[in-house]
Amino acid sequence: MHSWRDILRLSAEYLIQKGVPDAQVAAELLVARLLKCGRGFLSPRLDETPDAKYVEAMRRGVSRLAAGEPVQYVLGEWDFRSLTLSCDRRALIPRPETEELVTRVLKFAKAYDVERPFVVDVGTGSGCIILSLAKEMPDGVFLGIDISPDAVSLAQENAVRCGLGDRVKFAVADGLDEFDEPQSVDILVSNPPYIATADCAALDPRIRNWEPMSALDGGPAGLDFYERLVSDAINILKPGGGAFFEIGDGQGEALRKLFFDAGFDDIRIENDYAGHDRYAFAVLP
Ligand SMILES: C[S@@+](CC[C@H](N)C(=O)[O-])C[C@H]1O[C@@H](n2cnc3c(N)ncnc32)[C@H](O)[C@@H]1O
Repeated sequence: MHSWRDILRLSAEYLIQKGVPDAQVAAELLVARLLKCGRGFLSPRLDETPDAKYVEAMRRGVSRLAAGEPVQYVLGEWDFRSLTLSCDRRALIPRPETEELVTRVLKFAKAYDVERPFVVDVGTGSGCIILSLAKEMPDGVFLGIDISPDAVSLAQENAVRCGLGDRVKFAVADGLDEFDEPQSVDILVSNPPYIATADCAALDPRIRNWEPMSALDGGPAGLDFYERLVSDAINILKPGGGAFFEIGDGQGEALRKLFFDAGFDDIRIENDYAGHDRYAFAVLP
């Protein structure tokens, strides 16, 4: 009979051998999930001896990690800002840099100060952006759109899980093609696919083989979606409304030009904590 401490050590050693990055952390996250506690609260529980069913669940989790599956999918949930979201292969894993996109939208929304702003998130995936905005904005009308019915089903489940099922609506659609309410939107936000097609093959296999390619491939230069979104934004935003995009490293100048050519004001390109272009915003005059 092994204690959790032994199981944790053996699991981490095995995962290191299999080349799993951050193997110790991944093993701790699995144990914490099984013990239903935070990773920081594991230590006092490690001398307990788990039942066979927990040992079997741990074995299954470790073999999924060893096969290259991202830890977020193995856990089946992941934190994004103040929300814990269900997380599986139906949608991209929510990333920390996207949390900062939400921060920027919230700052704009506060200064913009419109009663019940209409907020649209294109390429909603797990729903992480639009659900966080609904949770953290005092009021508003919130719509998440995705071309993937799988992603929308996950986002809807997440809305219910987060108690936001009646505040956020979702639709399956190709971008804003079916959106026919001109000058109605206060905030357009999107973290669209933005990896250049040729770079997709070189992505880490944990991304390339497990996350939906339709969430990653942004066309030859990675810019296809921004071109569409900026031209749609001119029609759907109210004057004074803002467009907020997550962008890829090195795409800042292209975004600045797209917004400028389309007649937007207050164009801003900002970096992430690693110093890379990551956010592009502009306001419709
Ligand atoms: C980079 S993921 C972002 C997911 C989520 N918003 C996030 O930040 O984690 C891009 C999303 O865009 C969706 N997508 C791809 N093509 C689309 C299209 N033509 N219309 C709407 N959504 C699309 C993908 O299904 C995917 O969910």
